Amino acid sequence: MEKLRETWGSNIGFILAATGSAIGLGNIWKFPYITGDYGGGAFVLVYLACVLMIGLPLMVAELIIGRRAQKNPVKAFEKNHRAKSPWQLTGWLGMASGFIILSFYSVIAGWAMAYIFKSIRGFAGTSEQIQQQFVDLVLSPSGSIMWHTIFMVLVIGIVAGGIKGGIERWSKILMPALFMLLLGLMLHGLFNTTGGIAALNFLFAPDFSRLTAEAVLSALGHAFFTLSLGMGAMITYGSYMKKGSGIVKDAIIISFLDTFIALMAGVAIFSLVFHYGMEPGQSVGLIFKTLPVLFADTGPWVSVPFFILLTFAALTSGISLLEVVVVYFIDEKGWSRVKITLLAGGLVYIFGLLSAIATLTIPFRGSDQTFLDVFDFMTTNYMLPLGGLFTCLFIGWVMKEDDMAEEFGSRGMLLKLLRLALRYLTPIGIAMVLLHGLELLPFMDY
Ligand code: TRP
Repeated sequence: MEKLRETWGSNIGFILAATGSAIGLGNIWKFPYITGDYGGGAFVLVYLACVLMIGLPLMVAELIIGRRAQKNPVKAFEKNHRAKSPWQLTGWLGMASGFIILSFYSVIAGWAMAYIFKSIRGFAGTSEQIQQQFVDLVLSPSGSIMWHTIFMVLVIGIVAGGIKGGIERWSKILMPALFMLLLGLMLHGLFNTTGGIAALNFLFAPDFSRLTAEAVLSALGHAFFTLSLGMGAMITYGSYMKKGSGIVKDAIIISFLDTFIALMAGVAIFSLVFHYGMEPGQSVGLIFKTLPVLFADTGPWVSVPFFILLTFAALTSGISLLEVVVVYFIDEKGWSRVKITLLAGGLVYIFGLLSAIATLTIPFRGSDQTFLDVFDFMTTNYMLPLGGLFTCLFIGWVMKEDDMAEEFGSRGMLLKLLRLALRYLTPIGIAMVLLHGLELLPFMDY
């Protein structure tokens, strides 16, 4: 006999958990720095268009697949098609992606935690000395491993608590806290610094002369990562939804909140950057190298909330990554949640040691790179787009239209539009990201 499957306690609980999955390092660490690198407003506009045209349809698709099947991503494809359906490979790919992403995500999240404590002590010294602290942390295996360990223990602890008692409960605490912290930091940036107006200009006044094809493709790829798409995380969270709530409305809320938080983070960060007359294009080092130099002046009142915020965001994303790996074994093998969470989390932890030890490198794409960079590149550029591509092709061309319509809730124009998007627009967009990742786009110089 099948055990009764857990569901979310409330729809708002689901929305907070799914938003928690979406909002993560992608919003607060990655979005600001790529926006800085690609020159601001025009990139932001393209990114918003990608969220709307590619991200939103795909999120609706994943939630429909999940709720329809009430199963883990592997089984969900079978249930919506037929036994032994080859499409279930999409689910396996997703589990592999989740496993790999979490292994390095945890290392970066660990740095964020380390920086809470560095902030409490305060940043002092020359700009070079402050930036060097980050290099020291990354290159010290013991430091990175210690924080990676702590982060994985937290993730495992929450996921072991289950859907209502673990993921939903913690999302309900962490997400509002995150919002309040970020609101405070944004208001600080807007009104307590002289950089507020410059930040708004940089983010919202598009200068299309700075827009490159490379930027467009990065915007598309990022829309994917930031909404937690392409690996079954939303299929999984959708599978715990009760029938009846509006999937489209929920997907719009989740995508909106995710985007809104990224923009808020952008305002908070660039206000400081412009206040101190820095250049916005600071690349990967924006959060961990440039900001601490500015934090030396603002003091712990700004920096401590900032890194707590980053940690909370990473935590609610980390749990969704582990949940995708765990749920398969609960559904299909009947293992106890605590047992499989410990086992899967433990394996992710061990695998993550490769990323935590930055002195280990492997040759990749013509140079020696850290495992963290290689895993990040492989998942973001190949594995997630591939998973997303299969997902929209599946729902657009394979799944029965009636099944889709029933979950969708109505049969009007909106459903037709969605189907059209999932059949053509979304797959073509994703295929371009994928080809770009493989350096195979004919009109680009590689
Ligand atoms: N969306 C998260 C972020 O922006 C990361 C993340 C969590 C993710 N779960 C995911 C990315 C699933 C892709 C797939 O940081």
